[in-house]
Amino acid sequence: MNRTPEPFVLRNARLCSLDGEAGYQVIEKAALASHEGRIAFVGAEAELAAEWRAAPTFDCEGRLLTPGLIDCHTHLVFAGQRAGEFEQRLLGASYEQIARSGGGILSSVRATRAASEEELLAESLRRAQDLLAEGVTTLEIKSGYGLETAAEARMLRVARRIGEELGISVRTSFLGAHALPPEFASRADDYIDHLCTEMLPALHAEGLVDAVDAYCERIGFTPTQTRRLFQAARALGLPVKLHADQLSDCEGAAIVAEFDGLSADHVEFSSPDGVAAMARAGSVAVLLPAAFYCLRETRLPPIEAFRAAGVPMAVASDLNPGTAPQRSLRLAMNQACTLFRLSPEEALRGVTLNAARALGLTDRGLLAEGLRADLALWDVRHPAELSYWIGGRLLHASWSGGRQVAG
Ligand code: NIG
Ligand code: FE
Repeated sequence: MNRTPEPFVLRNARLCSLDGEAGYQVIEKAALASHEGRIAFVGAEAELAAEWRAAPTFDCEGRLLTPGLIDCHTHLVFAGQRAGEFEQRLLGASYEQIARSGGGILSSVRATRAASEEELLAESLRRAQDLLAEGVTTLEIKSGYGLETAAEARMLRVARRIGEELGISVRTSFLGAHALPPEFASRADDYIDHLCTEMLPALHAEGLVDAVDAYCERIGFTPTQTRRLFQAARALGLPVKLHADQLSDCEGAAIVAEFDGLSADHVEFSSPDGVAAMARAGSVAVLLPAAFYCLRETRLPPIEAFRAAGVPMAVASDLNPGTAPQRSLRLAMNQACTLFRLSPEEALRGVTLNAARALGLTDRGLLAEGLRADLALWDVRHPAELSYWIGGRLLHASWSGGRQVAG
């Protein structure tokens, strides 16, 4: 599996490189060469150097070739499901009410703690396969349904194993500050201490943590508690991101900026000052329209302010058992267009280039020489079709680091 990937050439593609400030950057009749898992050539087929003639060559028959998609915000490792809460919400209960009465995240915590590592892997792998089948080659997965060291470690190990099983990149985020576990009821500050001094250092020492996340919200943790956790992350050299301003303005965007965070996610209630601070810090706004849709929210994220300030916008599925049981990143692209009025080009940049940036990755997200050969080949002609079609199997094949992983 870890042998160097064989070189190959894709020819006769309609190649959407996204390599430029704006526009899809489409090259007709394009070729792409992959060498040792990296892109060695992108351009018009006529310009492909003769040395590539000997390499195995695939005819794309005019199909659209894009960067592999990146889902930069998921909670796809968990056990069980919460369809009962879906029913309760339809009968009038709110997400916050359900959470305050011990359901919500804590209900998934009970199921996840009770599951073995193998059970957790089997359930979660199926969800990851759904994303893989629609062109995802890089996936972020959060912990946060364990809320104790052993169960959080199990979730993060399962996340790593999913990457190995499917041959795609998985980035992990530690979300111990997702909810207050029953052992620490009414002792949120003590729990944050425990995260800072024990859980996070232990998981980091095992190499399980790529970034630190938290849920800063009325029903989550306070700005002060979030800052303490972020200080501990900083001391370990870990980047931060945040569930920010989803249900109320909790200064989330500004906190992210204060810590030079990778991203502020949700951001429906982020203030103009928060947006300005993110722009200065270079943090990404991760839009999660699936949660907005499922919770029937009405407050739109400040999209125009992000555009005006030059804050890059990413789009992610938020795949989780509570607010977004959505096993599709392409549907999130469609929702970002329909609900948030992103252009299909912004949606595509949101699941490629800007999603890479939200994960701190600079080696992917567009098609250019020297970058990873993370590729998606589609049975469509126009890049906007990726946001336009709702459902359907559009993916023809995909490659991660120059190895074919789907199709
Ligand atoms: O991103 N709100 C916090 N986290 C998730 C929901 C998790 C859950 O309800 O299980 C989110 O929306
Ligand atoms: Fe989330």
